[in-house]
This record gives sequence, C-alpha cells and structure tokens, in this order.
Amino acid sequence: MSVQPLQKRRTAASIQALKGERPIVCLTAYTAPVAKLLDPHCDMLLVGDSVGMVVYGFESSVQVTLEMMIAHGQAVMRGSNDACIVVDLPFGSYQESKEQAFRNAARIMKETGASAVKLEGGEEMAESVHFLSQRGIPVVGHVGLMPQLVNATGGYRSLGRSDAEADKIRRDAKAIDAAGAFAMVIEGTIEPLAREISADLKAATIGIGASAACDGQVLVSDDMLGIFTNFKPRFVKHFANLAPQISQAAADYAAEVKARTFPAEEHTYQMKRQKL
Ligand code: KIV
Ligand code: NA
Repeated sequence: MSVQPLQKRRTAASIQALKGERPIVCLTAYTAPVAKLLDPHCDMLLVGDSVGMVVYGFESSVQVTLEMMIAHGQAVMRGSNDACIVVDLPFGSYQESKEQAFRNAARIMKETGASAVKLEGGEEMAESVHFLSQRGIPVVGHVGLMPQLVNATGGYRSLGRSDAEADKIRRDAKAIDAAGAFAMVIEGTIEPLAREISADLKAATIGIGASAACDGQVLVSDDMLGIFTNFKPRFVKHFANLAPQISQAAADYAAEVKARTFPAEEHTYQMKRQKL
C-alpha cells in the first residue's frame, strides 16, 4: 500500500515543468534510510537497476528481477516524502511487447505507489512508451549508453563522437520524446550532442556522463558517496568518501571486541532496570 497521499509528492508533470526553470536534482536510492537522507535535497529519486551492481554484487544490471525492483521501490517510498519516485523496469520485464511493458509497469505502480517508471531504449521502445504514457503510467526514457544492452554491445563506453552514433542517439531521443516521456536519462554522451538534444526535446533531460548541458543530473548514490569503489568512470565525482570510513569503523570494532573494551559499561544491562 502507498503510505503518502499522492499529491504531496512532486509529480512527473512538475519535474517536466522544471525544464528551462532550474536544473533538476536526481540521485538513485535503494533503501529506506538512505532515501530519507536524500529526499530533502532531490526532486526525483530513481530506484535504479544499478541496485544489481551496487547492492547485490552482480556483474551487470541484466540479472535484476522485477521482484527486486518492487521491494526496493517500496523501501524508497517508505523512506521518502517529497521526491518524485521513479522505478526502473528491469531487463526482460518490458522488451517483449507494449502489453508486457504495461503489465509489469502497472505492477510496479500498484505495489510500490511510485510516480513513474523508467525504461531503456530508443526508436524500438517508442510504441511502448506511448502505450504506457497514454494509459496513466508516466515514463522516463533512457538513451545513449544503455547498460541493459551490455551483453550485446560488449561493454560500457561514451557514445556520440561518430556521425552514425550521434544520429542514432538523436533519433532515439526524438522518438521517445514524441512518444510522450516526461523526462529522459541521457547517459555517456558527448556534451554538444547532449546540449542539442536537451534544446530539442519537450522531455526534461537528466544527464549522467552527459555534461552540464542537460536539464538535470543523476548519479548513482553509492558512487557519489564513495561506497561503491570497484571502478570510477570519468563522470563520477565522490562527494563523500565513505568506503575508508566504513573499513576503519569495522577495524576499530574488531580491535575493541578482541580487547574486550567493547561493549563497555554504558552498553551493558545490569540487575537494576535500565532503558533499552
Ligand atoms: O540504474 C540506474 O541507476 C540508472 C541511472 C544511473 C540513470 O539507470
Ligand atoms: Na538503470
């Protein structure tokens, strides 16, 4: 069940209305406590299928299931009050047909109470984006580098330097825009192309590795917090460096347990009643 009245949160329409007004602030979130910390600062929280890599330790997002996305979507909804919550449709949950896309997107909307879904793809997904957005499911597109295609493309690299690549991304963005997406992630794309696309579209463009010329920005929160440090693409900035702090905390804890200096008297119950 949804826990907040619908109108309290930022809506898809109000995200799109920020285009041309001010940059849109977005981060990924996967858990209730982190969502609670990010919510006051973000217009939109994306429950990304990057959860597969940063939380589950998968090699790519391809293994993420609809059930995982729903569970994390519910957690982020419980932890937040104001942001527009967008949940990624995972690989295999929408590519088959517009009907499959609607069925699974509707399940996400019903079971999480989120405001919108996101799906990867260009021209080939335009029909599905139109089908969903005409039937009550606001859609965020995702063009440029599409991580769910990693098995077909063979890796992750920035795109748009050749005319062929630039034309493809341009056509993809226009098709998803015409299909009615209210926003669109542009990932791993050169600045001039991101600038041109952002100027051309009705949808608000949300860049990741796509320059400051986009209408807003998103980062994977575990990347920007310096928790996920397996690799750092050029577009990631560590706004915090939590990995060494977590390691140090674990080391300090281990040392105190071995020395029996933790737990100390203040952490210990005695015969006299004490509060929990
Ligand atoms: O899964 C994800 O986190 C994303 C964003 C990086 C756009 O798709
Ligand atoms: Na994603």
